[in-house]
Amino acid sequence: EVSWKLEDHPKLPKGKTIAVVVLDGWGEYKPDQYNCIHVAQTPTMDSLKQGAPEKWRLIRAHGTAVGLPTEDDMGNSEVGHNALGAGRIFAQGAKLVDFALASGKIYDGEGFKYISKSFEKGTLHLIGLLSDGGVHSRLDQLQLLLKGAGERGAKRIRVHILTDGRDVLDGSSVGFVETLESDLTNLRGKGVDARIASGGGRMYVTMDRYENDWDVVKRGWDAQVLGEAPHKFTSAVEAVKKLRENANDQYLPPFVIVDENKAVGPIVDGDAVVTINFRADRMVMLAKALEYQDFDKFDRVRFPKIRYAGMLQYDGELKLPSRYLVSPPEIDRTSGEYLVHNSIRTFACSETVKFGHVTFFWNGNRSGCFKPEMEEYVEIPSDVGITFNVQPKMKALEIGEKARDAILSGKFEQVRVNIPNSDMVGHTGDIEATVVACKAADDAVKMILDAIEKVGGIYVVTADHGNAEDMVKRNKSGEPLKDKEGNLQILTSHTCQPVPIAIGGPGLAPGVRFRNDVPDGGLANVAATVMNLHGYVAPDDYEPTLIEVVGN
Ligand code: 3PG
Ligand code: CO
Repeated sequence: EVSWKLEDHPKLPKGKTIAVVVLDGWGEYKPDQYNCIHVAQTPTMDSLKQGAPEKWRLIRAHGTAVGLPTEDDMGNSEVGHNALGAGRIFAQGAKLVDFALASGKIYDGEGFKYISKSFEKGTLHLIGLLSDGGVHSRLDQLQLLLKGAGERGAKRIRVHILTDGRDVLDGSSVGFVETLESDLTNLRGKGVDARIASGGGRMYVTMDRYENDWDVVKRGWDAQVLGEAPHKFTSAVEAVKKLRENANDQYLPPFVIVDENKAVGPIVDGDAVVTINFRADRMVMLAKALEYQDFDKFDRVRFPKIRYAGMLQYDGELKLPSRYLVSPPEIDRTSGEYLVHNSIRTFACSETVKFGHVTFFWNGNRSGCFKPEMEEYVEIPSDVGITFNVQPKMKALEIGEKARDAILSGKFEQVRVNIPNSDMVGHTGDIEATVVACKAADDAVKMILDAIEKVGGIYVVTADHGNAEDMVKRNKSGEPLKDKEGNLQILTSHTCQPVPIAIGGPGLAPGVRFRNDVPDGGLANVAATVMNLHGYVAPDDYEPTLIEVVGN
């Protein structure tokens, strides 16, 4: 039985309106021409930086600070928002799957036992993101699972790949497919009939999120389940090379692999399916299509009777999927849940593509509110069917307006938003558009800070991980790298840079400042900080607060 009552903060008052602003993909890096945040006009964020070191500092947002396996792992929105909301560092999906594979426990679990019942007569299908990005999935985990399943009786395996170019360099898909093909050749040498069956680019096929565009999932369904796609090839390497002539890795159209014009791996009755991504947001829609008997998001045409398991369970509230190979992190007692139990009325908002970040991820991968009468979650529909470099302002203005109105309404003590621009446009690799995106984000921050000024509130402005502050791949000494043709290697992915955090506003009690004894502070330290500003002391097992109150 959890005791939800938080202790009163000895020095800080209650009842202030606090804006918690998360800039998505906004890190701190040296000021050069590939730092879009530096290049952009960002007067609001620049002015906050003037408050250093008492009111502005940097915090860690990657690697072990957010529960990832190593310090080489860049941050991402899932682990970032989990840490921000939960106030503690949990071993995340990437790490849990590593453990389960290394120890072999993955094969003893209920999930694997369940799917292996199909190995004798059916095909094992593995569907997921093919790269070593480590954000949604990892190639080496797929390789181990293929080997492990082969050794444990899978006779026929079909892999349905989604090419990346978003968490890794564009163009790297070809190499990943070659690596996979050579593993599958090895497996065939051991008597397992293993092949790639279909593919497509992650942003155009399967990996939509937050129900932004079901057509994306349908395109994948048609290729993976029905074995139908506009493009047919006899080899996946050839497919990816050819399709890359007109699209980059993220946006390759769907294709199927055929033998004599017949798809080699549609999903049929009696088969087993595993979605190999550990991260939830971009797999949960497919999980619904694979698992739900009643389903009306698109016409599935055929709904095969399969044994389906996720690499993880993607939604603990919906218990989806019901079978999984590795148990997800148990992120409990999040700050959002504590705060509503301590009479903090909460407003959360973003546009569709990031809406779940400030709700689902923030609340420990839990969909829905804790106490609906205390919370209001507002989703602003994202533009659909475009790449955000053509619309770099996205819905920043609308998010700013909603937050402003929520602040001015006096109905909430916490108004929490995610402003997506620097991340979503940064992922396109379009430097000019990313500069526009950063300015739009800065404008939205200003609108929110102005509202906080009016109501005598407090603001906390931070970010979930880096992205737009560095748009090129660099060598160890930090110089931009070029490819064989002499072209700059554009970095579409996140980074390992720290992110800023700023506090302020007329409601901030005199004497509140950042402590200097938590130099390694990271995103997980933000929850206790925000609780303090609401007038409470964080639970003992939370990461320490970043602030202190001097004087009096
Ligand atoms: C994505 O899913 O868009 C990227 O892989 C990671 O971006 P995010 O962590 O910022 O959502
Ligand atoms: Co991102």
